[in-house]
Amino acid sequence: MDSFTFYNPVKLHFGETALEKLSKELTQQGKKVLVVYGGGSIKKNGVYNAVIEKLQEADKTIFELSGVEPNPRVETARLGIDLCKKEGIDLVLAVGGGSVIDCSKLIVAGAKYDGDAWDIVKRKVFVQDALPLGTVLTLAATGSEMNSGSVITNAETEEKLSWGSPAVFPEFSILNPAYTVSVPKNHTVYGIVDMMSHVIEQYFHNTTNTPITDEMCEGVLRTVITTAPKLIEDLENVQLRETILLAGTIGLNGFLSIGSRGDWASHNIEHAVSAVYNIPHAGGLAILQPHWMRLSVPVNPERFAGIATRVFGVDAAGKTPEEVAYEGIDLLSAFWTSIGAPSHLADYEIDDSKFHQIVEHAMQNGPFGNFKKLQEKDVRAILQNSL
Ligand code: NZQ
Ligand code: ZN
Repeated sequence: MDSFTFYNPVKLHFGETALEKLSKELTQQGKKVLVVYGGGSIKKNGVYNAVIEKLQEADKTIFELSGVEPNPRVETARLGIDLCKKEGIDLVLAVGGGSVIDCSKLIVAGAKYDGDAWDIVKRKVFVQDALPLGTVLTLAATGSEMNSGSVITNAETEEKLSWGSPAVFPEFSILNPAYTVSVPKNHTVYGIVDMMSHVIEQYFHNTTNTPITDEMCEGVLRTVITTAPKLIEDLENVQLRETILLAGTIGLNGFLSIGSRGDWASHNIEHAVSAVYNIPHAGGLAILQPHWMRLSVPVNPERFAGIATRVFGVDAAGKTPEEVAYEGIDLLSAFWTSIGAPSHLADYEIDDSKFHQIVEHAMQNGPFGNFKKLQEKDVRAILQNSL
């Protein structure tokens, strides 16, 4: 294990009565609350009314910013920042999926910064201070509800970048599995792929002696693999939603990378693809990550073989570690396809005509990936194999 300091201050309220806890949280916050949400799903499924009721009971002055896009835009965050500065907002309450939460993280940071919000995303400044942030999560996927990261798109420059700061950890997050029941099948699938992809990113590191986190990663993956197909057939099953919701949070709240440093190259390439084509984040991952895995097997075939046998049930008898490894990757890819995820860039009508641009974006900070350092030719190979 590497030496580490673990810090995660997010207070998680989980379960069917979780929203009751909002009232107590609100007593510790100022009067003016900015509620941030997306394209309107929370108005259809009742979550908006439930949250507003709690805010009214607590006698808060409510402001709203709606219309946060999937793959949230810096322009939208700027609107929220202006509102915070103009009105003297005390608390930002993000109600939605990862996009709404990520946008809100930039809003709370930008509200305490005099320059332009894009400076924060470009990491020209390090965020030391932010307004308090609370979240009510409605989609199991990113883990943003319990981490300090955020991913923001700039359509003008065709960049989609991640940034983060301990200052933007939510103070509290409210997770009621029932709020995720209305997530349609496609976004349920994307969420499942995203959380599995996070676990895989963290599993592939070059640190030795990490049995605790290895077992945790494998356990989360096995649980998601047995739960997901049932959920896809039974979208209103709250118990299955509950399992997947917790898996998403555990998948990226820091627990799984205690004492090691995950790879994250697949995410970097996906962000470059979805900056140019605006495709769903996990749709891109389902296509790209298996090809990253195939390219990376030679770094440590035994590690790939281990996950293949213990998570995907590959019978290793009489096979080399490489053979077991590739069989496991094929099973992962087949699993994602079986629940309805895409497997080729062509599924999004993406051809190789903008590969130069994608490669340029992905390589903007030089070779990347902590398990395997990817050079330009590797990124090209992954994209080419994904066609
Ligand atoms: O906009 P609304 O109307 O809310 O609809 C959303 C959106 O269309 C809908 N939805 C959410 N909850 C729903 C619902 N529909 C019905 N019922 C509900 N309960 O689902 C659609 C997708 O929402 P979005 O928030 O975009 O999805 P997700 O949570 O997957 O977030 C994706 C974003 O997070 C970033 C991605 O890059 C992408 O921009 N990521 C953030 C990370 C982080 N902060 O740690 C890590 C991830 O790797 C990821 O990169
Ligand atoms: Zn992701």
